[in-house]
Amino acid sequence: MPDAVFDHPRLAAVYDALGSADRPDLQEYAGTVVGEFGARSVLDIGCGTGTFGLLLAERGVHVTGVDPAAASIAVAQSKPGAEAVMWIVGTVDDVPALQVDAVTMTANVAQVFLDDDTWNATLRAAYAVLRPGGVLVFEARRPDDRAWERWTPDATRRIVPVPGVGEVETWVSTTSVVGEVVTFDAPTVFHADDERLESTSTLRFRSRDAIEAALVTAGFAIVDVRDLAYAPGRAWLYIARRPRLGPA
Ligand SMILES: C[S@@+](CC[C@H](N)C(=O)[O-])C[C@H]1O[C@@H](n2cnc3c(N)ncnc32)[C@H](O)[C@@H]1O
Repeated sequence: MPDAVFDHPRLAAVYDALGSADRPDLQEYAGTVVGEFGARSVLDIGCGTGTFGLLLAERGVHVTGVDPAAASIAVAQSKPGAEAVMWIVGTVDDVPALQVDAVTMTANVAQVFLDDDTWNATLRAAYAVLRPGGVLVFEARRPDDRAWERWTPDATRRIVPVPGVGEVETWVSTTSVVGEVVTFDAPTVFHADDERLESTSTLRFRSRDAIEAALVTAGFAIVDVRDLAYAPGRAWLYIARRPRLGPA
């Protein structure tokens, strides 16, 4: 069941407006996936409202985007150029047989897989759709940054004017930290009619060692683990390759 913030139609409709306008994170992904690795076909897991998929499609990349949040996919499908992308409501299990140059998980998608079985199955599915030599690129927040300690209503509250919608107020509040698993509330209030919608999310903050080990177990070779230019010190960008000759 996707989080309300992605799957409630009224919340999905303002997701882009509440994020940073130029999405410097997605520019960095595009530079890596297309600029550095020359990908011409990409599977974007957890594509959300499709901003990254459409950015790639504009560059002539053949894109498939998958996300279980139907409301987010509906937003993606309503955007100019959306017909160039294959959108799928679902998880990697719902992706048809593909062979792509790159698989991506932008923003915190890699952290939504809470149990190891689902995480490992997602990495294996990414491996299966990559052509030999293709790359998996994703980020995960660094546990040592302890981002959840900054997720308080006072530190995160914002009121954003959204064209055609009015002022939208939102904030984040951590409600529990159990080992690597962090749960937080993210309410949204629409000032135009005072509707308040609740959303709760849970993310797992795996260690870099654990993520690298899971990648290797899934058959990947680690190409690089980088600091993110748009958020230094806060997350690692993992780049892993399906070996050209396959696993030994
Ligand atoms: C923070 S959003 C990121 C969306 C998009 N990648 C972006 O950069 O804007 C996390 C996304 O992960 C999706 N998600 C949750 N569970 C998922 C799963 N099992 N498989 C794929 N995506 C999932 C959510 O629906 C949501 O769209």
